[in-house]
Amino acid sequence: MKLLKVYSRASAPTKIILFGEHFVVYEKPAILAAIEKRIYSSINIRNDNNINLNINNIHEEIDIDNISLLKDQGFTNLTHPLFIVIYDTLMRFNARFGLNVKIDSEVPFGSGLGTSAAVSASLITTIFNLFGMFDKEEIFSLTLNAEKLIHNNPSGADPAISISGGLIIFRKYNDNKMIIPLEYDKELEFMIVYSGEERITGKIVDNVRSMKDKNPQLFEIFANKSEEITQDAIQALKNKDYSLVGKLMTKNHELLNRLGVSSQTLNRLVEHALNNGALGAKLTGAGGGGSIIVLFNADDRNRLLEAFKGNKIFVTKISNNGIRIE
Ligand code: PMV
Repeated sequence: MKLLKVYSRASAPTKIILFGEHFVVYEKPAILAAIEKRIYSSINIRNDNNINLNINNIHEEIDIDNISLLKDQGFTNLTHPLFIVIYDTLMRFNARFGLNVKIDSEVPFGSGLGTSAAVSASLITTIFNLFGMFDKEEIFSLTLNAEKLIHNNPSGADPAISISGGLIIFRKYNDNKMIIPLEYDKELEFMIVYSGEERITGKIVDNVRSMKDKNPQLFEIFANKSEEITQDAIQALKNKDYSLVGKLMTKNHELLNRLGVSSQTLNRLVEHALNNGALGAKLTGAGGGGSIIVLFNADDRNRLLEAFKGNKIFVTKISNNGIRIE
């Protein structure tokens, strides 16, 4: 494949999971939305064989020939999966050259907003762009492989939304996926409240698997409940019945709490939102920390902003933009 550029920049949206996280790993449906906060990757080709990664004020440089060794040795550093992503994408093009890589995020890492998938998707897209390629299906499968490096059994929901943008129903079937875009209200807003608690998605996904292995019957009851809530939410979103969407979000949070993936802080934040006029609130993503999402009527916007004054928050609409060349 011919190299067409020496510099490239691309971005991918972060996301919220409105319904169905965790159970989506076990082939139940989920609803996800891309949000307006994005992750940007810029790369330029070097004269040597080193990959120089600059992310979140961390600088690290590894010779391309040593990256494949990381795979065998196992990761000792959180940036190592990113080096593998870069390596695997270059190998897709039979390319062996050094790169300066800079990644900038508009949200904190580990905030439960799908940053890991957005980093990989934007990074892979920038490398594809060097060769004049923009194949979403291929970018999806490389992003999914990257997610597998980070946690063993990803559903694929995060890569799917980061690549497509918009509002989607996602369902995994064995090695396949179903993605259905949903119409959405362009004015609809969500408030995102950070808990300040960082967590590692892979660990929480592993905890859920242990719970499932220990108590399969109870897990099945929870999973069916999650599916029922998600199906009701699809209908409520289609009907623009946001009061019902909110109630279902809160119900979904209670279910995730019973599953054991919430935290005292997350429960307190949800409670606080509900006490201040929210239509509904829930943790989003893996849980154990990260963020909550809050749905509200426009009339209650200021009251909620005031109520969460001491917290890190932002308000976002759904973003129609998936991966994009900048
Ligand atoms: O916390 P996040 O943004 O990494 O989302 C994880 C979503 C899970 O459903 C818990 C896992 C998955 O692979 O879908």
